[in-house]
Amino acid sequence: MKIIVRPLDQIAALVADDVQALLASKPDAVLGMTTGTTPLTTGIFQELICREAQGQLSFASTAFINPDEQIGIGPDHEQSYYQYMKRHMLDELRTQPKEWHIPIGTAADPIAECEAIEAAIARLGGVDWQLLGIGINGHICFIEPAPSLPAKCFVTPIAEVNRELYAKDYGSLADVPTHAITYGWGTVLAARELCLVACGQHKADIVARALTGNVTPELPATIVQIHPNATIILDPEAASKL
Ligand code: GLP
Repeated sequence: MKIIVRPLDQIAALVADDVQALLASKPDAVLGMTTGTTPLTTGIFQELICREAQGQLSFASTAFINPDEQIGIGPDHEQSYYQYMKRHMLDELRTQPKEWHIPIGTAADPIAECEAIEAAIARLGGVDWQLLGIGINGHICFIEPAPSLPAKCFVTPIAEVNRELYAKDYGSLADVPTHAITYGWGTVLAARELCLVACGQHKADIVARALTGNVTPELPATIVQIHPNATIILDPEAASKL
């Protein structure tokens, strides 16, 4: 595990350099994306969009895959991760990626939807690079703390602490989805490269516990400690308790 601490305004370029280098050697790489505030606060998506516009990289042969989606929230819902990805990334690109996979939150059979994501990853030959954020309770993707965790994509309850966090986006807690589809722990571990990004003082405690505590499903982000090729990029605030 490599930990890099950089000012917030340098993080996007660092991540984009990594993606650009990967695409230079493997234009048909499979890129795992993520949602949440971190890719926006850091400007990671904006930097990738800029480099694509300037021709420094191309996603034309690339597959994007997203690790999670909230159940009951369809692709047309403004809070869906589907719309998030369209709004903040796909609609801004000059050329669309060759493929893009994201779980459909309103799929009639969410378990089959989990299997479809695993099947897409297998058909594409695995995820080459996976961007991750970390939730304040130590979740990654939507892998919430639990006594044990499935290896493959699964349906999970969303932790109350996160539902409360999202209530402002939905208007009320009652409207926040209770469950999500997410990568499993093994799905994360199988990605060839992980890039976990965290910024802000509010992440300092959980970052310290995730990177220095025992590896446990009770703190899913601890899995980055045992991944053979994980880079953790932090701003000074998020790194302040390490
Ligand atoms: C969200 C998503 C994750 C994201 C994490 C951290 O709910 N399910 O994929 O990485 O929580 O979000 P943020 O970057 O807003 O702190």
